[in-house]
Amino acid sequence: MTEQLGEELPVQETRRRSFLTGALAVLCGGLATLPPVVAAVWAFLDPLRRSSGAATFLPLTDLTNVPADGQPRQFPVIADRVDAWTGFQAEPIGAVYVKRDEGADRVEVLSATCPHAGCFVELDKAAGCFRCPCHNSSFTLEGGIVAPSPSPRSMDSLECQVSKAGAVSVKWQNFYTGIEDKVARK
Ligand code: FES
Repeated sequence: MTEQLGEELPVQETRRRSFLTGALAVLCGGLATLPPVVAAVWAFLDPLRRSSGAATFLPLTDLTNVPADGQPRQFPVIADRVDAWTGFQAEPIGAVYVKRDEGADRVEVLSATCPHAGCFVELDKAAGCFRCPCHNSSFTLEGGIVAPSPSPRSMDSLECQVSKAGAVSVKWQNFYTGIEDKVARK
C-alpha cells in the first residue's frame, strides 16, 4: 500500500504540472490576442468609424460668420478621425456650404460632395450657381439640379442646429453617389 502511494505521487505531480503548464499557455495566448480584440471593439464602437460620416452633430462655425444675404459660404467639417490604430485630432473630414437667407435666423447646409461621383462642388459666384468640375453638373444655390447634368440627384442637404449662443453645428453624413435616392452610408 505504501509502495503504491509512493508510485502514484510522482504521476499526480506530473499531471498537476502539465495541467498548470497548459493553463499558463492558454492564459498567455489569451493575453496576446487581447489588444487586437480590444482595438477592434473600440473601433467598432467609435461613432466616426461605425459609418464613414456617421450621423454625428459637429461644430461648424458661428452664426455671425454666415451673413444673411443668401450667399453660400464654404466651411470645412472638422472632427477627430480614428483609423484602426491611430487617432488624428481635429482633421477636415469634409466640407459644406452654409447659406442664410435675408432676415433669417436659421441656416441651410449642403454637402460639398457631388452626388454624381463624389468630387468637390465649387461655388460659381459670377453665375450664381454651384458647379462640379469633374463632369459639369450644375446646381442652383438651393442645391437643385440644373439640366443637363450627369448628377442623378440634387446636392445633399444636411441637418443643422443653431444654439441660442449662435453656434452652428451640422449632422455630418456621407451619402452614396451615383444613385437617385439620397441614402446615407452606413
Ligand atoms: S462627380 Fe460631379 S459631375 Fe461627376
